[in-house]
Amino acid sequence: MKTSIEKIQKNNKQKYKQYVSQQNTTEQLEKIRSALRALRDAVILLNDNDGLEWWNQAAEDLLLLRSEDHGKSIFEFIDIPEFKQYYQTSPIPNDGVHITSWRDTNRYLKCELTPFGDEKLLIIYDVTRLQHLEQMRRDFVANVSHELRTPLTVLMGYLENFSDQPDMPPHWRRGFELMTQQTVRMNRVVNDLLLLSRIEIEETHELHYIDMTKLLTHIYDDAQAYNQEYEHTIHLQIDTYDGLYGSEMYLNSALSNLVINAIKYTPKYGNIVISWSKTSTGCLFEVIDNGLGIAPEHVTRLTERFYRVDSGRSRATGGTGLGLAIVKHVLYQYETTLKIESTEGIGSTFSAVFPTAHIRSVATN
Ligand SMILES: Nc1ncnc2c1ncn2[C@@H]1O[C@H](COP(=O)(O)OP(=O)(O)OP(=O)(O)O)[C@@H](O)[C@H]1O
Ligand SMILES: [Mg+2]
Repeated sequence: MKTSIEKIQKNNKQKYKQYVSQQNTTEQLEKIRSALRALRDAVILLNDNDGLEWWNQAAEDLLLLRSEDHGKSIFEFIDIPEFKQYYQTSPIPNDGVHITSWRDTNRYLKCELTPFGDEKLLIIYDVTRLQHLEQMRRDFVANVSHELRTPLTVLMGYLENFSDQPDMPPHWRRGFELMTQQTVRMNRVVNDLLLLSRIEIEETHELHYIDMTKLLTHIYDDAQAYNQEYEHTIHLQIDTYDGLYGSEMYLNSALSNLVINAIKYTPKYGNIVISWSKTSTGCLFEVIDNGLGIAPEHVTRLTERFYRVDSGRSRATGGTGLGLAIVKHVLYQYETTLKIESTEGIGSTFSAVFPTAHIRSVATN
C-alpha cells in the first residue's frame, strides 16, 4: 500500500518537474521572440520554399509587410539581382551581401543569411553610416595623396639639381643624399596610395583580354633585372595559354609585387618559381620562394596597409608595406583571394586561383 502511494507521489513529482521545465522553455522562447521583435535590424525567418514565416517589427517597416504576406516568397519583396545571386550561392558566403535600399537609394543595406535545418534566418542591417565613413576615408586618402604629389615633385626636382652640383661642400653631400632617398620613398608611398584609391574607387575598369603568357614574360624579364644583386635562380613555368579578362595595368602591379617580394625577402642565391596553370575551377597563379618565410601570427595581417613583418628590413629594401594591400584589392576584381602559405626559415607560397568566369582562352578571345 505504502509503495503504491510512494509511486504515485514520485510520478506526480516528475510530472510537475516536466511542467515547470516546459513552462521555463516557453517563457525563454517568448523572451527570445520579444528580443528579436525589439531588434533594430530586420529579422526574417524563411521556410524551405523561401517563403516568409516570421518577422520582426523592423522587417515589417523595411519591407512594408502585412500579415497576409505570410508564406509569400522573399523575392517578391527584395527583387535585387545581387541579393538573388547571394541567396542562391551554395554554400552561402560568410560575409553577406551589400545592396542599395530599393526604397531610398541613399541608404545601404547588408543582408546576411544563416541556414538552419530546412529554414533560413535573414538579417538585414542598415550600414549607411559605415558606408559613408568608408567613403570619407577613401576620399580623404585620395585627396591627401593627390595634394602631396606636386610639392614632392618640386622637392625632388630641386634636390636632384643641387645634388648634381660638382662644387657642393662635402659635409652637405650626405645630407642631400638622405633627403633625396627620403623624398623618393615618400613619392613611392604617395603613388602607391593613389593607385590603391584608384583601384578602390573605380569599380568598373575598362576590361580587356590579358595575354598572361605575354604579361608573365614581361614580369619575369623585369624580375631578372631586379634580381641582379640577389642572384636567385628564377623559373617561369607557363602550363596554359589561357588568359584573363580585366585591367592589365592593375594586374601587372599586383603580380609584379608578389614576384619582387619573393626576390626581396629571399637571401642571396635562392630559388623562385613563378607559375600559371589550369585547375578544375580556373587558373592558378603561384609564386614559390625558399626565402625568409613568415611566422603564422603575421600571415593574416600581411594584406593590411603598411603592415610589414620587419619594418627595418622592409624600409631598407625600399618597401612601403602597401604592395600586398594592392594585390588584395586587385584580386577582388577577379572575385578571388590571395592564399599565403609560409614557414619561417623555409619559404613562402603566394597564390590565387582566378575563377573560370574571368578566364579567356585564346580561342574565345
Ligand atoms: N615572399 C615573402 N617572404 C617573406 N616575407 C614576405 C614575402 N612577401 C611579403 N613579405 C612580408 O610582407 C610584408 C608586406 O609586403 P608588401 O608587399 O605589402 O610590402 P613591402 O614589400 O614591404 O613594400 P612594397 O611592396 O609596398 O614595396 C613585407 O614587408 C614582408 O615583411
Ligand atoms: Mg612588396
